[in-house]
Amino acid sequence: MSSTSKASERTRQSRALTVGPPFRIGLLGRGTVGSAFHALLEQRADAIAVEAGRRPEISGVLTRSQGDFDDILERSDAIVEVMGGIEPTLGYAMRALQSGKHFVTANKQLLSQHGEELYAAAAQSGAQLGFEAAVAGVVPAIRVMRESLAAAHIERVHGIVNGTTNFILTAMARTGASYDDALREAQQLGFAEADPTEDVTGKDAAAKMAILARLAFGAQVGLADVPYEGIEHVTADDIAYARDLGLSLKLIGTAERIDGGIAVGVYPAFLYGGHPLAPVSGSFNAVTIESPAITEITLSGPGAGGSQTASAVLGDVVAAMSPPAVQAPPAVELPIVKDVESAFYLYVEVADRPLVLSKVAEILGMQGVSIKSVVQRGAGDDARLVMVMHPVLESKFRAAVDLIERLDLVRSKPRAIRVIEEVFE
Ligand SMILES: NC(=O)c1ccc[n+]([C@@H]2O[C@H](COP(=O)([O-])OP(=O)(O)OC[C@H]3O[C@@H](n4cnc5c(N)ncnc54)[C@H](OP(=O)(O)O)[C@@H]3O)[C@@H](O)[C@H]2O)c1
Repeated sequence: MSSTSKASERTRQSRALTVGPPFRIGLLGRGTVGSAFHALLEQRADAIAVEAGRRPEISGVLTRSQGDFDDILERSDAIVEVMGGIEPTLGYAMRALQSGKHFVTANKQLLSQHGEELYAAAAQSGAQLGFEAAVAGVVPAIRVMRESLAAAHIERVHGIVNGTTNFILTAMARTGASYDDALREAQQLGFAEADPTEDVTGKDAAAKMAILARLAFGAQVGLADVPYEGIEHVTADDIAYARDLGLSLKLIGTAERIDGGIAVGVYPAFLYGGHPLAPVSGSFNAVTIESPAITEITLSGPGAGGSQTASAVLGDVVAAMSPPAVQAPPAVELPIVKDVESAFYLYVEVADRPLVLSKVAEILGMQGVSIKSVVQRGAGDDARLVMVMHPVLESKFRAAVDLIERLDLVRSKPRAIRVIEEVFE
């Protein structure tokens, strides 16, 4: 052994000798994440003890058929909540925090619907509230925003925060499969639930974006403030046509400062190849954070899975073992902006008649929408216009699309999808 490694071995041994009382963890839920957390804790407990000075251990487990919450709370320094749902979880969370016990959770619905109550209870008692695992799986977006970027003025956050939808859209782009076939493949491979509603409608991503927006802007944002659209109506044609225009489709969560307020939303959006989220494929998640001081950083990694989520949960537990606590400051009030400027892709099935393009263009022009690129596909009964617009207020664009839909030479409901024009190259 070299003299350097002997010295570090001595340091480790002497630290091990000063290990304090066990750090007791009450575990609520022992399903996919809870079991993985328990197993990971057993593997890592000695190493954590050396670093943190206390050995973490499970003091009690609550499931539907086992354990008593009051008893577990009494015997714990921290509560790890991986059972999900709002009730009885919220009551357990509040009681833990109010009694000064750290609370670590993977529950995005709890945070996005009751975050302010939880933040306030944690601030009052000085306990830590950890929720890294609630957003983007193992991607450490929360810690980077709370700590590394604490001094940066964050202007915008874009995220691919739902692995199921990213898997489906990637499969559609790769094979030309329909939405239904790609969803079936995702279910067979375990990337989508038997009931995929929360994922494919964008609701799961909306909850995560509410949590990210609260942190990015220090403003009160809850799930109810986040409009969301899903991917159920995306067609393989949309993806194929857009690819010809250099675009790829993702379900994107956006949180940004606009005109003294903030806008948060989730929708399918096309990205140009130079956007850092464009190459994120399969079930991976990624978050891009933009600030004048740093330009942008992008973090990516697996979006879910028992062991990945357990790793994020354990990271929060270790942080709770080593005060000082990082507390979210009280929220400020910023207006929520609903009508936001964006570029758009528009797909219209039209009758193959003279002047059809000029009629559509005239309506767009009347609403102040200008066309960036247009291609006509097919002919006769199969004629289609595929267009990309320059950025315009969404209300004006939607008004134009309503008028276009009413033209007798339009054969079906037009499809509109946002386009994110930014690239970082
Ligand atoms: N799975 C993932 O990849 C993942 C990723 C990120 C975040 N999360 C989040 O992590 C949490 C747990 O997910 P999971 O996939 O591990 O769920 P799961 O496999 O369904 O496990 C849930 C566990 O919680 C227990 N539980 C549920 N309701 C309870 C109640 N009212 N009282 C006592 N125990 C109760 C269940 O008890 P029984 O065993 O008795 O049924 C089970 O042990 C959720 O908030 C989820 O959104 C999961």
